[in-house]
Amino acid sequence: MATAEVGDDVFGDDPSVHRLENNVAELLGKQAAVFVSSGTQSNLCALMAHCQRGDEYLVGDHAHTYMFEGGGAAVLGSIQPQTVPMLESGMLDLDAARSSIKPDDAHFARTRLLCLENTTDGKVLSLDDLRSGRELADEYNLGYHLDGARLWNAAIALGVDPADVAASFDTVSVCLSKGLGAPIGSVLSGSSELIDEARKWRKMLGGAMRQVGLIAAAGEHAVDNHIDRLADDHRNAETLAEGLADIDGLEVDAQNTNMVFVRVIGDIGGLENRLLDRGVMTRWSGNTSRMVLHLDVSEADVATVITSVAEELNC
Ligand SMILES: Cc1ncc(COP(=O)(O)O)c(C=O)c1O
Repeated sequence: MATAEVGDDVFGDDPSVHRLENNVAELLGKQAAVFVSSGTQSNLCALMAHCQRGDEYLVGDHAHTYMFEGGGAAVLGSIQPQTVPMLESGMLDLDAARSSIKPDDAHFARTRLLCLENTTDGKVLSLDDLRSGRELADEYNLGYHLDGARLWNAAIALGVDPADVAASFDTVSVCLSKGLGAPIGSVLSGSSELIDEARKWRKMLGGAMRQVGLIAAAGEHAVDNHIDRLADDHRNAETLAEGLADIDGLEVDAQNTNMVFVRVIGDIGGLENRLLDRGVMTRWSGNTSRMVLHLDVSEADVATVITSVAEELNC
């Protein structure tokens, strides 16, 4: 990062940003890409590139873009979310999606876009599911966007290229932070036309940055060096899930990829603070915790977590 060659990305002449955008577009098999500050900004730029004021997008009822992005699509894009139930697999219920598509009638918002998330809660959507979504989108002339914050994990888990996971979609957002370990940044990819449009929205959202090659350099390092090693995170997640499942008083939902969901049966008492005293920082919502494996959590750390939780719960 310290030696990154920089320019002014608002004028479009930062070489490090260009390199990153081109590399990610190529990895995902798309024409173009734009570097953005976050996954949230990336999804919002995509939604605004696909939809106009008063349009509607179909989205999973607990998908990140709908639940955890501050309602940005509605607030800043004037885009109405139409939620669709998500199946156990993490896929949208496409029958429900189909019956939510509005007829061409002035009573209704115009349905313009279908949006998926992969991985979702650590679950990998099958390539067949992704293609079924494409068929529905084509039938109704909808755009098709993927919130692929963890697309890299999906590709590793399926043993396919990132481009295979991205193939069905018009636009794909990927995060360079999260498992890949870059400090900041996401990339939105798609056709040149959609990415030009997204670039305009990025500017309006305050996300065009000047000498941002400094940050793009970290993203490039992450993309070049940290995709294949996600398999280590998946192995560590399995070890963590198996270790925690052996502890009395815990229920464990081991997802695919890098997430493990844990539920303490009964009250967690002061577990969070007691773990913190032992150097294990966890976050709990009631008696459940989502544990996520990434670049900075080693096999030894996993062993420490298992031992600490076992001792604190059964002391
Ligand atoms: C599935 C998913 N999409 C999008 C985001 C948003 O990414 P960011 O935190 O960079 O805005 C997250 C963040 O956790 C996420 O989990």
